[in-house]
Amino acid sequence: MRQGTVTCSFPVQTGVLLLDAALERGCGIQYKCRKGTCGACTVDVVSGSEHLSARNRAEQKKLGAAAKRLACQAVMK
Ligand code: FES
Repeated sequence: MRQGTVTCSFPVQTGVLLLDAALERGCGIQYKCRKGTCGACTVDVVSGSEHLSARNRAEQKKLGAAAKRLACQAVMK
């Protein structure tokens, strides 16, 4: 996944938030609310999007049709 100039990759961990996996790996991505409202955790999923939950209502509302994800809302499956 990519956020600005930060690119991070890690193995799939079922049931874990993308944000938590990134932080666990020491990726310095931005986040704030963890509720899907601020948009600070918006990331581009470069590969492996098939391993993520479907976009939830918060992501659809915040991101529209953009091919991005909110790391605090996307869960690995
Ligand atoms: S941290 Fe605010 S939307 Fe994810």
